[in-house]
Amino acid sequence: MNIGLIYNQISWEEKAIVEEAKKQGIQIQPYDSRKMHLKIQDGKEFSDIDLFLQRSVSYTKGLYSTVVLESQGFRVINSTECQETCGNKLKTSVALNRCGIVTPKTYVAFSYESALKALEELGYPAILKPLIGSWGRLVAILKDEQSAKAILESREVLGSFLHKVYYLQEFINSGRDIRAFVIGESVVAAMYRYLIPGDWRSNATIGAKADSCEVTSEIEDLALKAASATKGEIVGVDFFEREEQLLVNEVNHAPGFRHIVSATEINIAEKIVGYLLTCE
Ligand SMILES: Nc1ncnc2c1ncn2[C@@H]1O[C@H](COP(=O)(O)OP(=O)(O)O)[C@@H](O)[C@H]1O
Ligand SMILES: [Mg+2]
Repeated sequence: MNIGLIYNQISWEEKAIVEEAKKQGIQIQPYDSRKMHLKIQDGKEFSDIDLFLQRSVSYTKGLYSTVVLESQGFRVINSTECQETCGNKLKTSVALNRCGIVTPKTYVAFSYESALKALEELGYPAILKPLIGSWGRLVAILKDEQSAKAILESREVLGSFLHKVYYLQEFINSGRDIRAFVIGESVVAAMYRYLIPGDWRSNATIGAKADSCEVTSEIEDLALKAASATKGEIVGVDFFEREEQLLVNEVNHAPGFRHIVSATEINIAEKIVGYLLTCE
């Protein structure tokens, strides 16, 4: 089997996948999506590739290279459908809700005034997120009406058109979240991520401490449901805990796994390569 690995930034994860493929005697060909130019007409361009693994952290480069490769007849993991859903927080919320998965109470509003109305219903503190984004960037806590007005005003004046679609969410005060790593039909690992000291977020990429978490049957069941709702094959599903309940926050379609490997000592790269081999 010959796997194409698309990336736009070589990080620890891509190196681990390449090393693991080599160890297993599998051909793996890296492609930098920044250097790709793809032809829309005339069929397949990469006659030697059987399957592409999409690892671009850039939403647009990952999504649009996948759109074209799929149109040429390739299977790409994760698919366009998955990336379109997971890459957009509003589409993720709708997909999860449609499948009966419990998520934090969320509103969308299309102007400064309607956002303030939604916030009156949500109460403070509340969370404002960009529809597209990761690593906690531009995710803001609105502590009260004054700070909400200031943040919304800055988005109205300085934001791009997408920043003026206001995705507003109730604040879940759980002190940590849970990341479950799904590969195909299995949840291969899970970790707790604790709030960063002096922050209210728990993204591992910005410094949150992580710890191994047991994959309970509840986590397994919900993570697989969330992956299926978003058409994910290799995804990271994030949960908040509220009393005894798990709420799904988001599903990540190009999940990092360096931190979950350190926390659990599970060889995720090996499991990814193993899964790709079953996809022939
Ligand atoms: N509704 C919420 N309540 C409390 N904390 C939240 C909420 N939504 C997000 N967070 C915190 O902010 C972090 C980043 O938000 P998230 O929705 O995961 O966006 P990103 O795609 O940027 O990671 C989360 O890991 C979590 O710690
Ligand atoms: Mg996140």
